[in-house]
Amino acid sequence: MTRLKDIGTAVAVVLVSLSVMTLGSGSHLSQAQNSAQPKEPLEKVFPHSNKCKRCHERVFEEWEASPLSRSIHSPAFRASLEGYLAFSGRKDPGMCLRCHAPHVNVYEDQAPAFIEQVRSGDPAIDGVACSQCHLIEQVDRTKQLPKIKYALGKTLFGPYKDFVPNKAHESKDLDLFRKSNLCLNCHFAVPAAADLGKSNDLLGPWESSQATKSGKECQTCHMPEQVGESANGENKRKVANHTFPGRIGKLRQEAAKLEVETEVKGDQSKVTVTVQSLVPHNLPTTHPAWARMVLDLTIRGKNLNKVFGEQRVYGRVFANAKGQRSAFDFEATKVLEDTVLKPEETRKETFSFPTPKDTRSFDVEASLSYAPVAGPPAFLQRIEAESSKGAQDPVFQPIPIVKRTLNVPLN
Ligand code: HEC
Ligand code: HEC
Ligand code: HEC
Ligand code: HEC
Ligand code: HEC
Repeated sequence: MTRLKDIGTAVAVVLVSLSVMTLGSGSHLSQAQNSAQPKEPLEKVFPHSNKCKRCHERVFEEWEASPLSRSIHSPAFRASLEGYLAFSGRKDPGMCLRCHAPHVNVYEDQAPAFIEQVRSGDPAIDGVACSQCHLIEQVDRTKQLPKIKYALGKTLFGPYKDFVPNKAHESKDLDLFRKSNLCLNCHFAVPAAADLGKSNDLLGPWESSQATKSGKECQTCHMPEQVGESANGENKRKVANHTFPGRIGKLRQEAAKLEVETEVKGDQSKVTVTVQSLVPHNLPTTHPAWARMVLDLTIRGKNLNKVFGEQRVYGRVFANAKGQRSAFDFEATKVLEDTVLKPEETRKETFSFPTPKDTRSFDVEASLSYAPVAGPPAFLQRIEAESSKGAQDPVFQPIPIVKRTLNVPLN
């Protein structure tokens, strides 16, 4: 049997850590600490996802449709990477790639080459792809920030004990692949310029949520179980959806419930919207820094004309070292406001407005959505310029989550 004939042969164990260190103008998530860089070239050690496609077509197609496959492609990412490089004076050029193309942690001296790939807009390297996850052997959570440990060799780790042997790689089951820990290295902390204390934390107190206590892992919701082929031509079995539903996909509709109550008292009316987050972690997660959810209330009176509108915004407002509001977490040294919905939080919002006139009823529309990107005009123009869709790039559009409409009769 020719093992790893096509997909790489390196054998090395490398410890990669995102340690807490506050560089002058660098980042809270600073240099990874590698014990040794493998001698074998990158393509051998981290085989490209195309190599897996040949036998894992279903998984590949799902992953290709996921945001993870575009972790170094998006115009918003490229534009903010430029912002980061300018801000940091290239002190730690690989910082953004630590999670967006994690093999850079192992090949640190290639960070500038990785960056040129990203800049090209059509990188030949992968971002967060198959081998970037399936070579992770361990996640160490004894430190403040979770650390991944790669075992760079001929074995790919996965969920199955009873795997079918194959000619390309060895397989080994690891419990880690069914556990949230696998995801935490990259989904735990805001890559801020300074330690923001509790507000550095992306997920909030997720471990004490009902969902977590009842045994749900990140995979339960974001890699839902289905039945299919795990490799071409193999028997159907339980597999994990690799489209990573999140903002895209119908998981979104399970993010929150809205309840609307109205009270009309003569000339004045009041609407109370109860927003119940069904998510076992912060909503939104606050990286990138412009991530926001917007609760929008619209009142329509005579002829369905809008007579009142107001919004509530959930997110974090960061300040830079000069104390100014910043759209970028990489320059954040402080949190000015924090309105994120905590895990499974219920929040009541009240809105008061003049009762609509000359009508027998009015409509109340309450909707919750992810807000489009926001930031300085030069940054937004850069995204537009980087995108083949220009101003039509999806990042400029809100993403609707839930909506409630109610008709309120007036006497
Ligand atoms: C090596 C780092 C890394 C690991 C490990 C990782 N992710 Fe991610 N994840 C990312 C990055 C980077 C993105 C953003 C991709 C983009 O849109 O640019 C992302 C995006 C996502 C999204 C989409 C979010 C959205 O806004 O729609 C989901 C869902 C997700 N990851 C779930 C998971 C789960 C579940 C795991 C564990 C099984 C996991 N991730 C492990 C880096 C990682
Ligand atoms: C600790 C891991 C980590 C680091 C370091 C990191 N990111 Fe991210 N990034 C993520 C994850 C995880 C997501 C997905 C977040 C979500 O949807 O909740 C993401 C999403 C994004 C997005 C939105 C998706 C997209 O591709 O448009 C942008 C933009 C982004 N990151 C830019 C950056 C920049 C710029 C840096 C460096 C200053 C950086 N990131 C550093 C983990 C990281
Ligand atoms: C020559 C075909 C072939 C190639 C190429 C291939 N695989 Fe596999 N792989 C298989 C077969 C067959 C299985 C067994 C599936 C089963 O047991 O249902 C498998 C199983 C796996 C598993 C599950 C292991 C476990 O124990 O849970 C993972 C993860 C995996 N492959 C990842 C990859 C990745 C990543 C690549 C690319 C770097 C890759 N494979 C390339 C054929 C291949
Ligand atoms: C963000 C990390 C991540 C990425 C990227 C990723 N996987 Fe997985 N993969 C997992 C996890 C976690 C599981 C186990 C999920 C479970 O069983 O709950 C898994 C399961 C699998 C399995 C067995 C179950 C199944 O769905 O067939 C195969 C095979 C596999 N992955 C191959 C791949 C290939 C090939 C790619 C790239 C196209 C890839 N994975 C990308 C994390 C990842
Ligand atoms: C009980 C189901 C459930 C579990 C468990 C869960 N999530 Fe989520 N997650 C959701 C829902 C629902 C949303 C909101 C809708 C959406 O954007 O997907 C969400 C959103 C997200 C997003 C996108 C948020 C944003 O603001 O862009 C990321 C990233 C994410 N989850 C990562 C994780 C990670 C990492 C874990 C494990 C620590 C996890 N989730 C556990 C249900 C879950």
